[in-house]
Amino acid sequence: MLSKKVEEALNEQILMEGASSNFYLAMAVWAEQNGYSGVSDFLYKHSDEERFHMLKLVKYINERDGVAIIPAFQAPTTNYGSVKELFEKLYSHEVKVTQSIGELVGICLDERDFTTHNFLQWYVSEQLEEEALAKTIMDKIKLMGSDSGAWYHFDRDILSLTVTSSADSGSAAK
Ligand code: FEO
Repeated sequence: MLSKKVEEALNEQILMEGASSNFYLAMAVWAEQNGYSGVSDFLYKHSDEERFHMLKLVKYINERDGVAIIPAFQAPTTNYGSVKELFEKLYSHEVKVTQSIGELVGICLDERDFTTHNFLQWYVSEQLEEEALAKTIMDKIKLMGSDSGAWYHFDRDILSLTVTSSADSGSAAK
């Protein structure tokens, strides 16, 4: 059984993960419209992953006899200016998600809910990976500058970019 406080915090995280999914979906659409097919595939996939993060929380709350609430989502912005700007937004969004997971973990400790604390460790590792990947992409973008050949390769190869976090015990599977 979840405490009210933990249940509310998990529901807030549902909002955050669902909003992330929509955010990346809007980015994917923008990238597709602007000729970056690799970037858009990467973002469509990322959007799916965020939906999975949301769903995992929904199922967990229900499993623990709580009530998962599917919220209304604010429409994400549709214009990103450039791929650089898009990934800057993505990176700072992931930093916010990491903070939010950290707060959630803190609430579980305060409430002595060690089961939820244990469940959330998957999200802690996942965030470490996602932030590291976003940072890797930002570093590549800085290096590329305005070299159009480099951008061509970046768009072609972005789907193969993965970062295995140090918290992962050797498997890159999600
Ligand atoms: Fe599920 Fe990227 O946060």
